[in-house]
Parts: sequence; C-alpha cells; structure tokens
Amino acid sequence: KGILKRSSDYEGLKILVTAGPTREPIDPVRYISNHSSGKMGYAVAKAALDRGAAVKLVTGPVNITPPTGAETICVTSAVDMYNEVMKSYESFDILVMVAAVADYRCVTVSEKKIKKSGENLTLELVKNPDIAAELGKVKGHRIMIGFSAETDNLLDNAASKLASKNMDMVVANDVTLEGAGFGVDTNIVKLIKRDGSRIDLPVMSKEDVAHRILDEVLSIRNG
Ligand code: CTP
Ligand code: CA
Repeated sequence: KGILKRSSDYEGLKILVTAGPTREPIDPVRYISNHSSGKMGYAVAKAALDRGAAVKLVTGPVNITPPTGAETICVTSAVDMYNEVMKSYESFDILVMVAAVADYRCVTVSEKKIKKSGENLTLELVKNPDIAAELGKVKGHRIMIGFSAETDNLLDNAASKLASKNMDMVVANDVTLEGAGFGVDTNIVKLIKRDGSRIDLPVMSKEDVAHRILDEVLSIRNG
C-alpha cells in the first residue's frame, strides 16, 4: 500500500498509545526502570497523526519531544500509567501498548534516602498491574496491539502474550538483533495476528515499522 493511500486513512479514528519505560521509585533519589527509549511508541503516535487519527500518547519519562497534535500525558510509574489508560480507553477505537512497563514496584518507598550500611540490601517488590492484560478483558470491539520484546523464544513468548492478554496482534521484537530494540532508530519485528498469520518484516526505520503496524490494524478492522 503506497504512502499516498495512507495519507488520511485514519481520519475519524481515535488511537491510544503507551510509550517509554516506567520508573518505580525506591527512595527520593533512586528508581527501578529499563532501557526503553520511547522511540517506537512515539513513532506509532506520529504515524497515526500523519494518517489523520486523533492520538492520545501516555508516556513514561523519555528524552523525545512529543509529536505535534497528540494529546500527550506524561506519567512516571506503572500505576500512574495504568490509571491514566483505564480512565480514558473507552473513547478510543485502537489501543497500542508499546510501553515497557516495569513488572514490579517496591512494596514500600522510603521517605528518606536509604543510607548505605551492610554488605547486602534486599528490596521487596510487588507485581504491577498489567495494563494490556486488563484492557484485554474489557476492550470489547476495540482493537488492541501489544509488543513482545524478547531475548529468546521469540515466537512462543509472543504468541502466548497475544492469547493471554487477548490482543488482536502482537509485535514480536527480538531485542538481541543488531538494528533492533532499545535506543536505536531501526527495528526488526514480526507481526502475529490472532488467526496465526505472521508477517516477518526486514530491518526498517521505526517510522516505517509504525506504518506497517497501522496498515495491519486497518486490515483487522476492515475484516
Ligand atoms: N504490558 C502492560 N503492562 C504491564 C506489562 C506489560 O501493558 N504491566 C504490555 C506491554 O506494553 C506490551 C505487552 O504487555 O505491549 C507485553 O509486555 P512484556 O513485558 O513483553 O510482557 P509481560 O507479560 O510483562 O511478560 P515478561 O516481561 O515476563 O516477558
Ligand atoms: Ca514485562
């Protein structure tokens, strides 16, 4: 499908995108996080805007300027991101979960800076809410796309996330490949749909990957 045909094919559609990492505080000066740059999620938001969608971007802390025209909500922790998404998803047609949400947070956040003392320190963590999984239970007719960033067993892990979170498509992302994953401007992904069909994409800019994802979202919508 050519670039020209894409120029307004999302007019009238509303997309909610999560992007970036979350930060889970340990004390006032420290946190737990991950290497997500936000580039892939921001590329999806930008591509959707360029095709005429109304876009809400719920983003963890990143160093990129939000695309012009998106309603951008900056959050820090997984719980903040969960609350923001759950209070607004209902008015959206398409939900694209690109954020690298921290799976666990500290059971207690120290009010004061933790002082260095013994040779070992144990932090007790508790599981965060799974935004995609919760959306999967309530999404109804909405289309939900998730990502599966893996270092091994790519296709099996991605397929089980597709099923367990009730996604319509999963973007399987082997982050160990050169030219893929965290921080870089390119990505190498496989798109897996509920019917089991799979599209293996070559190395592409994150912008082009975003457009290919949006192409497939429309084809799912249009049956
Ligand atoms: N996700 C989410 N909320 C979480 C964890 C994950 O919305 N608390 C979403 C991600 O945005 C992604 C998908 O779920 O679209 C898969 O995330 P991933 O971290 O790969 O899956 P997990 O179920 O957390 O499994 P694991 O980290 O053990 O591989
Ligand atoms: Ca995870």
